[in-house]
Amino acid sequence: MVGVRRAGPDDVESIVDLFVAVVDEGKWLGTQPPVDRDVQRARFLENQNSPEAASFVALVDNELVGHARVELTPYKVAGLGMMVDARWRGRGVGGALVRAAIDAAGDLGAHKVALQVWPHNHVARQLYLRHGFVEEGVLRRHYPRRNGELWDAVVMGLVLDETSPGSPF
Ligand SMILES: CC(C)(COP(=O)(O)OP(=O)(O)OC[C@H]1O[C@@H](n2cnc3c(N)ncnc32)[C@H](O)[C@@H]1OP(=O)(O)O)[C@@H](O)C(=O)NCCC(=O)NCCS
Repeated sequence: MVGVRRAGPDDVESIVDLFVAVVDEGKWLGTQPPVDRDVQRARFLENQNSPEAASFVALVDNELVGHARVELTPYKVAGLGMMVDARWRGRGVGGALVRAAIDAAGDLGAHKVALQVWPHNHVARQLYLRHGFVEEGVLRRHYPRRNGELWDAVVMGLVLDETSPGSPF
């Protein structure tokens, strides 16, 4: 049974372990190996302590199996990032985390949640679509990889505020 709660400082080492493992898979995240653990530890801690962000862990029998975070930009769009331990994927952990992250984004005052995902990440794209995100476009040959490749990225967004006026122009 999966439980989701706010992440705390005691979770950071396990979150970094998970991040390193997912980065090492080499095909899901923007970060490429090797991971600088000190930099990532500081980044996750800063995220936990920021009033403009929220982070969550998913636990099974007290073992950390997933992490999600939302962080407000100055223009009040919440950027979402998430990852689930490879052994625990496909069992609803990602769904539980994305729901918590969307709720937190609303509580932070975001009018929208946004993210970018690699086109080949069909599971993530499906997960986000199922939770109301739409695919807004593709950034073509946008991100250079260390081996010289240029990868496309799909831009996805979930609008939380559909009532404020749009541009008059
Ligand atoms: C994306 C990720 C967080 C999803 O977590 P998860 O725990 O597997 O998610 P869930 O089990 O809640 O949902 C997965 C869904 O994808 C579906 N799915 C599984 N394999 C699929 C495939 N090949 N193609 C499309 N959908 C697929 C599952 O059926 C499930 O949908 P359902 O609940 O309607 O049955 C996880 O795969 C992950 O950590 N990947 C590596 C890191 C990553 O990609 N992070 C996001 C970067 S943008």
